[in-house]
Amino acid sequence: MRILIIGSGGREHSLCWKLAQGEDKREIYCAPGNAGIAGVARCVPIEPSDTVELADFAQGISVDLTVVGPEVPLALGIVGVFKKRGLRIFGPSQKAAEIEGSKIFSKQFMLRHKIPTGEFQVFESDAQALKYIKSKETIFPVVIKADGLAAGKGVIIAKDRKQAQKAIELMMVEKKFGSAGQRVIVEEFLQGRETSFFVLSDGSRVLPMVTCQDHKRALDEDKGPNTGGMGAYSPAMLNQEMFKQILNDVMIPTISGLAEEGRSYRGVLYAGIMLTDKGPKALEFNARFGDPECQVLMPRLKGDLAPVLHAAAEGRLDRVKLDWRREAAACVVLASGGYPEKSETGKTISGLNSKFAGPVIVFHAATRKNDGGQYITSGGRVLNVVALGADLTQAVERAYAAASQIRFEGMQYRSDIGREAVAVLKGGARG
Ligand code: AMP
Ligand code: GLY
Repeated sequence: MRILIIGSGGREHSLCWKLAQGEDKREIYCAPGNAGIAGVARCVPIEPSDTVELADFAQGISVDLTVVGPEVPLALGIVGVFKKRGLRIFGPSQKAAEIEGSKIFSKQFMLRHKIPTGEFQVFESDAQALKYIKSKETIFPVVIKADGLAAGKGVIIAKDRKQAQKAIELMMVEKKFGSAGQRVIVEEFLQGRETSFFVLSDGSRVLPMVTCQDHKRALDEDKGPNTGGMGAYSPAMLNQEMFKQILNDVMIPTISGLAEEGRSYRGVLYAGIMLTDKGPKALEFNARFGDPECQVLMPRLKGDLAPVLHAAAEGRLDRVKLDWRREAAACVVLASGGYPEKSETGKTISGLNSKFAGPVIVFHAATRKNDGGQYITSGGRVLNVVALGADLTQAVERAYAAASQIRFEGMQYRSDIGREAVAVLKGGARG
């Protein structure tokens, strides 16, 4: 079987690693991939946004299944491009992926389908938005969101009027996020603990995955700026009752609502949820696996992933059951100095060939090899050190022990991945 994975991060490395494991003979391709991915897949120098070029390549080598990692090609309609040529591809259509691509569509969709979410207002001009911010009825903090894709950076929590005004000016006047900020949402600030939820869907059926959680802030104790994710762990802090409530109140109505609106969703649906004192409320949806959440899900998944994704792409998930290891998984992201603002690059990485204690996998994110065959850093999030353990405590310990054996100049990582969950899970939550 020939499988093509699109993307170049740690998420895609974990997908390539998992998809390379099958009973049949596998040929794994990744576009464009990275230096670590090159160890399990043939890397093809095509960018994820070059959807037609990717389809030409897939057709040329008769790929059996294409798996899309990041959101940009989905928003560009890669699934439609492939399907028109009769190429099998795992991921939602452009219309279905709008659930991530447009925050306004997503919020209005939630309202139409009575999916619990924070209250919000939509603004099409800075004058309107500023007028609202200045009005007496606005309660602070408020959350200001650019409508379109902004690489995870288009959300600003404004503590007061001044910060809100600055955020609106940044998005709508200075156009910091380009056309993504043409329209904005001003949203109620929700308080509570945040959790993520992942399901697979074939358009009608909904298959929940085990729980997992990322750490979005750059520094320990959730300080510092938001990032793509500095680490993740699985299982997460979610009890069975809350798990069911999110599945029934958020995930199932979203999949059925999308189908009703002619936007049948085939792929991974990832919801960001706030557990408020009034129950779970959806913050946002993503049309893909999380990164680094995928890096802890893949090692916990038993069996062959290819037939599962194949079945989802073809609308026959009824025959599929996901089987998970009981072991917990933890992922520590090793990031470059300066991340997330301005990452240093070009640093030599050492220690990758160390002998690590326990089952440890290092998924590469931003690495390349130099002429001398050494691994070099090439972006913000560089490596994902993932470990399995009998429980989360052991998984976290193993991941940190391995992380301490790897070095590059300026390397930074959080030292509290999974710490709070370790304490909560001892109280008997589900995974
Ligand atoms: P999003 O991309 O919409 O998930 O937003 C990024 C982050 O901003 C989330 O992970 C939350 O931490 C925070 N956030 C977004 N919306 C809200 C909200 N309504 N209330 C509180 N925090 C929020
Ligand atoms: N880890 C957050 C994301 O993938 O969006």
